[in-house]
Amino acid sequence: MPTPSRRHGTQKTNHFSPNTVYKPAMTTMLAGPAPVHELQPYKSLLNDELTRRIQKVRRQFGSQLLILGHHYQQDEVISLADLRGDSYGLSQNAAASSECRYIVFCGVHFMAETADILANRPEKLAERGGVRVPVILPDLAAGCSMADMAALHQIEDAWDQLGEVVDTNDITPVTYINSAASLKAFVGRHGGIVCTSSNAEAALRWAFARTSRVMFFPDQHLGRNTAIGMGITLDQMPVWDPFADALGGNSEQQIRESKVVLWKGHCSVHQMFRPEHVTMFRDKYPGIKILVHPECPREVFELADVSGSTSKIIKTVESSPPGSKWAIGTELHLVNRLKQQHPDKEIHFLSPVVCMCATMYRIDLAHLCWSLENLVAGTPVNVIEVDAETARWSLVALERMLEVK
Ligand code: 13P
Ligand code: SF4
Repeated sequence: MPTPSRRHGTQKTNHFSPNTVYKPAMTTMLAGPAPVHELQPYKSLLNDELTRRIQKVRRQFGSQLLILGHHYQQDEVISLADLRGDSYGLSQNAAASSECRYIVFCGVHFMAETADILANRPEKLAERGGVRVPVILPDLAAGCSMADMAALHQIEDAWDQLGEVVDTNDITPVTYINSAASLKAFVGRHGGIVCTSSNAEAALRWAFARTSRVMFFPDQHLGRNTAIGMGITLDQMPVWDPFADALGGNSEQQIRESKVVLWKGHCSVHQMFRPEHVTMFRDKYPGIKILVHPECPREVFELADVSGSTSKIIKTVESSPPGSKWAIGTELHLVNRLKQQHPDKEIHFLSPVVCMCATMYRIDLAHLCWSLENLVAGTPVNVIEVDAETARWSLVALERMLEVK
């Protein structure tokens, strides 16, 4: 098969559906002997039995085991996490881990990769006499459709094409943490930074202190929403379509006049929220406040009263007075949990359509119990290990992320 031409875009290879079996990135190696326990029998166990067995493993390992849970996890899973958080908070937890010897990540693939890079960075390895902390993702099919919308070869192709029009020394690449480790390494190598939904503006400021232009990937919405808040206009933010024939579908003039080149990626969950949903809730529930994640499209983001990371969404609801009314635009499991936890407040899901993260949902008690009992048996499964070179450069970009909060 011919290799795609540099000037003529790349082939469409990253289609994703909830049924797609996630293929780990090249940088991730799965190691270890055959598991003592097969997955299949766990699937027919009841949740009570699985919870009891998971608790037993937790007691057995004590502080040596750290179960990290992202806020989008289902209730029965998140209730077993030692620490829960947004992407930024969970990265901090992984970076700070000292006693723990095993991390089980109830989240998605890029989060487990990030935890591996941070928990096994050189200074941590030295503290532990070279012993690695294995990071386990209970189900390898827990990917992120947004992260899959930007592949390293596409980013490199775009970078080369940009270099034919503007000076790439004057571009800082910024990758959202929802990206493969190979992209984080690209960013590290090219003087860039990783951002999360909670520090995107600080990361862009960091970038603009160094260069006059930014290339932001993979989420166009987070990039656009953040840059608009900093006074950058839409005509200064061309969208780069990796499947376009040349220059991501832009003219040379658009690239020359750009401040932020936005990658054409999005979250399939958050793109379901529409401005008409905001209007509908405001008409139906006078006084209601709209609270959204910045992965929502601009038209929704701009109508919202408050926006922020999943942790900010939680804190905003927690600190609001009894009787407050909220329509929340983020993943369904988190919104339903907030509803249950705050019966004194009126909480709605900001869409008539069910928007749940099908890949986060892959992590269930059966996979969690299976992976933990294999850990006890000495045959860890689904160990996410980023190769040393990729980890080294990703770390450069991740450390910048942790500094600019
Ligand atoms: P947070 O970092 O805000 O938790 O978001 C992660 C994510 O994947 C949202 O879709
Ligand atoms: Fe990825 Fe969207 Fe799921 Fe977040 S909600 S993990 S961005 S697919």
